[in-house]
Amino acid sequence: MRFLVDAADIEEIRRAFETYPLSGVTTNPSSVARQGLELPRLLPAIREVIGADAELHVQVTASDAPRMVRDAYSLSELAGPHVFIKVPVTREGIKAMRQLVDEGFAVTATSVFAANQAFLAGAAGVAYVAPYVNRLDEAGGDGETMVRDIATAFATEGLVTVILAASFRDVAQVERCCLAGAGACTLPPALLDGLVAHPLTEDAVARFERDWVARFGSPALLER
Ligand code: E4P
Repeated sequence: MRFLVDAADIEEIRRAFETYPLSGVTTNPSSVARQGLELPRLLPAIREVIGADAELHVQVTASDAPRMVRDAYSLSELAGPHVFIKVPVTREGIKAMRQLVDEGFAVTATSVFAANQAFLAGAAGVAYVAPYVNRLDEAGGDGETMVRDIATAFATEGLVTVILAASFRDVAQVERCCLAGAGACTLPPALLDGLVAHPLTEDAVARFERDWVARFGSPALLER
């Protein structure tokens, strides 16, 4: 299971990378717009924080295939190595994905709300498909089932395309999607913290410390 942080704020990304075993960062036009920094400044800054080996997923903003491809070249110049070009699974998006894959780009098919969209993107040879779990749940659908259906079909076909589950509201959705076959999840920093938080873990740690201090007078292991 791989995890990425879904953020465009440099400090949030830095803190997440300092703590968690992350494979990379995903951004989208909304999260970038919230930063108020132009891409030529933002993307190199993110790259500096995450290092050359981490994945950086950045999205095109054009809506027709030729301009999506042009966006991909610009993003690739700014984001450095291990860039994944996020392209929405529209009709023009699928057309752009095919060309981008042919031209050697790593592509993440994004804004996936139906297994059929993922199947087409997988057939186009993308590296990742990103199903939006919570947005589908909130629209009355079932994000977990979408992830499971895509995972089942990809496994049957022997496709190497990885499911990068995205758009989460709570940790239960994350757990269910991991068990349903997502190979990776991208999460906002607060949800990464949520994955590790458990009241019984906190209680266990507090009890260990209490017992230790009661016997040795301080929580230190050796310096007593
Ligand atoms: C994925 O890459 C998207 O940036 C993201 O997960 C969307 O999440 P949201 O529905 O919380 O905005």
